[in-house]
Amino acid sequence: MYFELNEEHHLIRESAREFARSLFDGVIERDEKALFPFEQVKQMGQLGFMGMMVDERYQGAGMDTLAYVLAIEEISKVDASVGVIMSAHNSLVLFGLQAFGTEEQKERFLPPLATGEKLGAFALSEPEAGSDATSQHTTAQDLGDHYLVNGTKNWITNGGNADVYLVIAQTYPEKGHRGINALILEKGMAGFTVGPKENKLGIRSSDTHSLLFNDVKVPKSNRIGEDGFGFKFAMKTLDGGRIGIAAQALGIAAGAYELALAYAKERKTFGKPISEHQAIQFKLADMELEIEAARLLTYKAAWLKDHGKPYGKEAAMAKLFASEVAMRTTIEAVQIHGGYGYVKEYHVERLMRDAKITQIYEGTSEIQRLVIAREILK
Ligand code: CAA
Ligand code: FAD
Repeated sequence: MYFELNEEHHLIRESAREFARSLFDGVIERDEKALFPFEQVKQMGQLGFMGMMVDERYQGAGMDTLAYVLAIEEISKVDASVGVIMSAHNSLVLFGLQAFGTEEQKERFLPPLATGEKLGAFALSEPEAGSDATSQHTTAQDLGDHYLVNGTKNWITNGGNADVYLVIAQTYPEKGHRGINALILEKGMAGFTVGPKENKLGIRSSDTHSLLFNDVKVPKSNRIGEDGFGFKFAMKTLDGGRIGIAAQALGIAAGAYELALAYAKERKTFGKPISEHQAIQFKLADMELEIEAARLLTYKAAWLKDHGKPYGKEAAMAKLFASEVAMRTTIEAVQIHGGYGYVKEYHVERLMRDAKITQIYEGTSEIQRLVIAREILK
């Protein structure tokens, strides 16, 4: 396997790094007050980060998954909320539309999403269907030229600010998961309302909402794929989404590590920098080791996807491992900072709170183990 990044990868990483530096401005206030980063998302659109893997003919940046991973990693080092806004939009909504949408859907929906003029959300989870995603209660009744959608979605990232929503719903309950459809809904459709914003532990400036559907009329032309393809659509899309969350987790871990490393060289106790105490050195060594292992798994999953090879198991492994590394690393980064790590100004407590969600969304760690186990046992 070839381990060098190409010139485009270096450029994108540099540009994401520069943008990420600007994210330090106001990040503590955005977290504290749960403020959505409107200005930052607009800038990401201008920089091409909102349509990274979308073909240039739909006004995307036409880059590969590895470039996308590098960008999310850099951005999440500083602000993981911005990281997930970008990830849900790019790897769930845009990837899903580009891979499985009709030409007409792509021409209509992709350009404004890929330029960041519009924002996307992906709605699979429900109050009683999180891990158990096949037990959809939201219905999409087939009424000839349109579907009538009723039900509730929970925990939807970008839920309050999106314009385009990919919604998974059950059309033929008797067919189980083979009766599920994926539909494109738009903000403002009659009967579609957004519930209140969740008050979260971490990624606080990313907005998470429930979505309520009451007799929403959705044209048949807004269905993605064949009748009954909706569950497979969600699963196939999530395979790629998990690479994005692995990159977000990797960024959170690497961001906390970089802060801890710099702090350890500066902070003195017992007449020398704490980095000269072996207990701290070993923590730093473990962090570096685990982050590098998470990085290799994540880049490999991206590489497999870019080379048209199966990547579902590898994406699950990368997401599982990187999210657990993010949790361990951020806890140790707070420890290395001592009391200072426990206050907001040093950023590591926020990264620790942000890390936790990476073990939960886009499939919990338990679900990733289930996906990996099924793959190795089949
Ligand atoms: N690709 C294609 N098809 C797949 C697939 C994949 N990766 N995984 C499953 N399928 C297919 C199966 O082949 C099966 O179809 P057939 O019967 O026709 O063969 C069908 O889907 C159902 O699969 P299972 O029988 O394996 O279903 P299950 O109920 O036992 O379990 C599961 C499936 C893997 C646990 C799944 O429900 C799952 O992934 N759950 C987690 C849900 C999740 O990740 N939600 C994330 C929401 S989005 C989000 O969180 C975004 C964010 O934060 C930003
Ligand atoms: P449950 O499924 O009820 O799980 C509870 C516990 O049981 C977990 O520990 C789980 O791992 C464990 N468990 C469940 N089943 C098994 C099993 N078979 N074996 C072993 N253990 C099991 N969803 C979307 O569709 N779109 C989004 O944009 C989105 N964004 C989110 C943003 C945030 C901030 C949050 C919190 C969630 C988001 N989600 C989104 C939902 C997320 O994907 C679900 O929360 C997640 O899949 C888990 O579902 P659940 O919360 O219902 O937990």
